[in-house]
Amino acid sequence: MKILGIETSCDETAAAVVEDGTRILSSQIASQVEIHARYGGVVPEVASRQHLLSIIPVIEMAMAEAGVSWQELSGIAVTVGPGLAGSLLVGVNVAKALALSQGLPLIGVNHLEAHIYANWLGNGSIDFPVVCLIVSGGHSDLVLMSGHGDYAVLGRTRDDAAGEAFDKAARILGLGYPGGPAIERAARGGAASIPLPRAWLKGSDDFSFSGVKTALLRLVEAGEVPSVADGAASFQAAVIDVLVTKTMAAARGRRAKKVLLSGGVASNGLLREQMVKHSPLPVLVPPPVLCTDNAAMVAACGYYRLRAGGTDGLDLDVVPSLKLA
Ligand code: KG4
Ligand code: ZN
Repeated sequence: MKILGIETSCDETAAAVVEDGTRILSSQIASQVEIHARYGGVVPEVASRQHLLSIIPVIEMAMAEAGVSWQELSGIAVTVGPGLAGSLLVGVNVAKALALSQGLPLIGVNHLEAHIYANWLGNGSIDFPVVCLIVSGGHSDLVLMSGHGDYAVLGRTRDDAAGEAFDKAARILGLGYPGGPAIERAARGGAASIPLPRAWLKGSDDFSFSGVKTALLRLVEAGEVPSVADGAASFQAAVIDVLVTKTMAAARGRRAKKVLLSGGVASNGLLREQMVKHSPLPVLVPPPVLCTDNAAMVAACGYYRLRAGGTDGLDLDVVPSLKLA
């Protein structure tokens, strides 16, 4: 079964064709990062206008790269939320038009669920239960997945998402946008020598990242951060310490067979390395290009929903604040 995936929840316009939920036949991403960089963050109105310009060429490129005809597709999967309403609307309406005109099943997909399914790309089957850490610009969720489509949220952030914290810390340190990659690059030349607080929230699987960001701001204001590189390395180490320790604690005792990482922050090299080093369980993490927003993960997720009979009608609508469970 070949599924066309469409993703427009934030600032990447993406389309991909995936076979049987695992084999990527094509994956196209038109990034808007340079357009938003001059504003220091994503401007929703600009993002939706840009999606309108890019979506048809991106879909055409994905179909051409895969070398498949519309008749060979089994369905069209599209992100319905969470995300920016105006951006989501572009993808959902194009998906509806294509499903109607080509007579194909329409499958609305949760973006967070899609991030988890990035782990199925290039991997056959994965035994359940697994503990998933989704760390993106808008979310930091720890999830117990007991089967396809079967999720229990163990914990989530009480304030900033991990990616959001990286973006804010980068701004504090005068680094560019997006902040995560900028911090990771800057940290390579520094030492994690500045003591920054870790919010352990004992007895809970929740996260909190606003305290570490504010602590960094106060130290920068007081002139107590010797270099941008040390500030970046110390901040990165503090956030990753919490993510690794709390993910391990959540996986322990829940009989998880594996730990799955996903979301933009999972492309961070130190997080990947530390999670593998400290985990007694096998850790799966998609290649960096499948951690950040893409449509292959949407198509993979759509395949498993379609197999379970989860199709949608043409009244499908966007849900900007959609939750996982
Ligand atoms: O999953 P994603 O591409 O989009 C959302 O669904 O939000 O995640 C984007 C987030 C941004 O906050 C970005 O700064 C962060 O992921 N990020 C990183 C890295 N690459 C992207 N954070 C830390 N290290 C990275 N290498
Ligand atoms: Zn995302």
